[in-house]
Amino acid sequence: MKKFTSVHDVPDIQQWLSEAQSLKQSPFAHKHLGENKTLGLVFFNPSLRTRMSTQRAAYNLGMNVMVLNVGQDSWQLEYSQGTVMDGSTQEHVKEAVNVMSQYCDIMGVRSFPGLKNREEDYEEKVMEAFLKHSQVPVISLESATSHPLQGFADLLTVTEHKQITKPKVVLTWAPHPKALPQAVPNAFVEWMQGGGMNLVVTHPEGYELAPHIVKDTPITHNQEEALAGADFVYAKNWSSYQDYGKVLSQDKGWMVTEEKMALTNKARFMHCLPIRRNVIATDAVIDNSLVIKQAENRLWTAQLVLKKMLETL
Ligand code: CP
Repeated sequence: MKKFTSVHDVPDIQQWLSEAQSLKQSPFAHKHLGENKTLGLVFFNPSLRTRMSTQRAAYNLGMNVMVLNVGQDSWQLEYSQGTVMDGSTQEHVKEAVNVMSQYCDIMGVRSFPGLKNREEDYEEKVMEAFLKHSQVPVISLESATSHPLQGFADLLTVTEHKQITKPKVVLTWAPHPKALPQAVPNAFVEWMQGGGMNLVVTHPEGYELAPHIVKDTPITHNQEEALAGADFVYAKNWSSYQDYGKVLSQDKGWMVTEEKMALTNKARFMHCLPIRRNVIATDAVIDNSLVIKQAENRLWTAQLVLKKMLETL
C-alpha cells in the first residue's frame, strides 16, 4: 500500500473495520512487523489526537517514530517550480521530502488549507508534493480537504454502536467563531457513504459541501427535520465552500442541545475533537457522547493503516 489519503485507497472497507476491531484484542500481535522500521510524522499544523494516536499505533507495531514540526523545527519550504528562492523560503519541497524519505520507511503529513483560494486548496499542493517526491508510502494525517484517519475512526465508532444495519447518521453544521476547513466533514461524508450508512447532511444555506463529495447524499437546511429519528448526530463546523473560506453565519440556533437531541431516536452524539463547549454543543450533550470512543478508535484505525503499509514494504 503506497498511500492512504482517502477512503478510496481502501480495497475493502468492511474487512478493514473488522481487522481494526481485532487489533483491540491483541494490540501487540504484529510487533515484529515494525522492527527496525521508522515512521516520520511531519506536522505543518497543531495536533493532539492525530499525533499521539499515530505515534502510539507505531509503537504497538514495534516501529520507531520521528516527529518534525515544519516551520518550527525545520526550514520554510518552497513549492513552486522555477522560483528564484531569494525570499522567505529556504528549502524546496522536492529535496526536503526526498531527504526525509531516506530516513523513514513510512511518512505521515498534516497540512491545513489556506482557506483563501479554493482551487489551490483542493489541488492539495502539500499532500501531492509529498506523494510525488517521497520514496516511501505516505499517510494523510489531515490534508487541506480531507481527514481520512478521522473518517475511518468515525465509521468504526458508528459500526460498533449501531443497533440496526443501516442507521440514520446526521452530519450537522454547528457555529464556530473562526473559519474552519471542510476536511473533516468531507471525510465523514465519504466514509459514511463507503460504509453504507443512511447519511443526511444539514447546514444553513451557503454551507453546501463540494458536490463531488456529497454526490446524492440528502441535504436539508432544516436541522430539526434532519434530526428527527436520527441514530447518530455528528456535529462539525466548516467554512463556506461556495463563498470560499468565509464565515457566513454564527447562528447559535444551530448549536446541538439536549432539546435538539430529544428529537432523535436516542441518538449518540459525535464530534472529532477538539470541541468548543457550549458553542458547537452543550456540556450535557458532550458529556453523554461518543467523543472519547472516537478518539480511542483513532489509535486502532491508525494502527491498521500502518500495519497494511508495513505488510507491503
Ligand atoms: N481530531 C483530530 O484530528 O484531532 P487533532 O487535531 O488534535 O489531531
